[in-house]
Amino acid sequence: MNKIKLRAPASSANVGPGYDIFAMALQMPYDEIEIELNDSNKITIEIINDTQNIPTDINDNTAGLAALALVKKFNIKQGIHIRIIKNMKSGGGMGTTGASAAGCIFGLNELLGLKLSDNEIIDLARMGEVASGGSPHADNVAAALLGGFVLVKSYNPIDVLKLDLPDFPIALAAIRKSQRTTRGFITYEIGQEKLKEQMARCSRVIHAIHTKDIVEFGKAVSVDYIAEPVRSAAIPEYNFVKENVLKVGAYGCNVSGGGSSVFALCNENNIDEIAGIMEKAFAENPHFVKVYKTKTSNKGVEKI
Ligand code: HSE
Repeated sequence: MNKIKLRAPASSANVGPGYDIFAMALQMPYDEIEIELNDSNKITIEIINDTQNIPTDINDNTAGLAALALVKKFNIKQGIHIRIIKNMKSGGGMGTTGASAAGCIFGLNELLGLKLSDNEIIDLARMGEVASGGSPHADNVAAALLGGFVLVKSYNPIDVLKLDLPDFPIALAAIRKSQRTTRGFITYEIGQEKLKEQMARCSRVIHAIHTKDIVEFGKAVSVDYIAEPVRSAAIPEYNFVKENVLKVGAYGCNVSGGGSSVFALCNENNIDEIAGIMEKAFAENPHFVKVYKTKTSNKGVEKI
């Protein structure tokens, strides 16, 4: 086998309080990735349906950087062509860069017969994230690879746990970032009271998943003292949207991943109304793309 085609899902990282340690995979949107081995001895990247000027230089592309990390680690002399077929048109907090990197390492693992464990795939794929956020965070690549809700149990060494989720309905307002990454503005100096509350919310998120309690899950994901204050400040409509979607029955709402996308946890009966509130409120925002009505998903990268 010298060619493989894969589907890699969007994911929403942080899930409220779990900055860099939580993420959940979504049923849609998703990207497709084809990996082909050849005799060129080079890694090349091609993007189909690109609307975001995604770099194709391997040092500046998440799949390219991840592939580079893999060939260096295993001293592989092999030409690799990576074709990324974009369905996710936004960037901005939907895990699209993580999906490309996770798909790429998953595919290379299959094609090259490396027999890597999930943690080893995540550890290589996260190196790709340096191209987008400047830091090898593992949350999005883990959710894209494994599906479900992922919890990074340890960064050193990388150890990730997947927990299955019920199919929770999610309204996801896709909003592009106004700048490449806001990670540099995030501080952990939040004080003892907020730190305690942050840890309490993380525990509450995990408990809510174990008990499959969407009300608890929603309350837990709506509070974050680390990333939300920074990312929401770049979304003028954020406070209005959060207040109003919660008012009409969303279980929870927060910034999705690195922003500026916003997610709300809904049910089948209120998702249309919640999506409508988001569409109306973000209509004038020049970075707004669309509202996806999707669900959480226990499926990660799959061969197609
Ligand atoms: N945890 C990462 C961040 C996710 O918040 O920057 C990026 O989507």
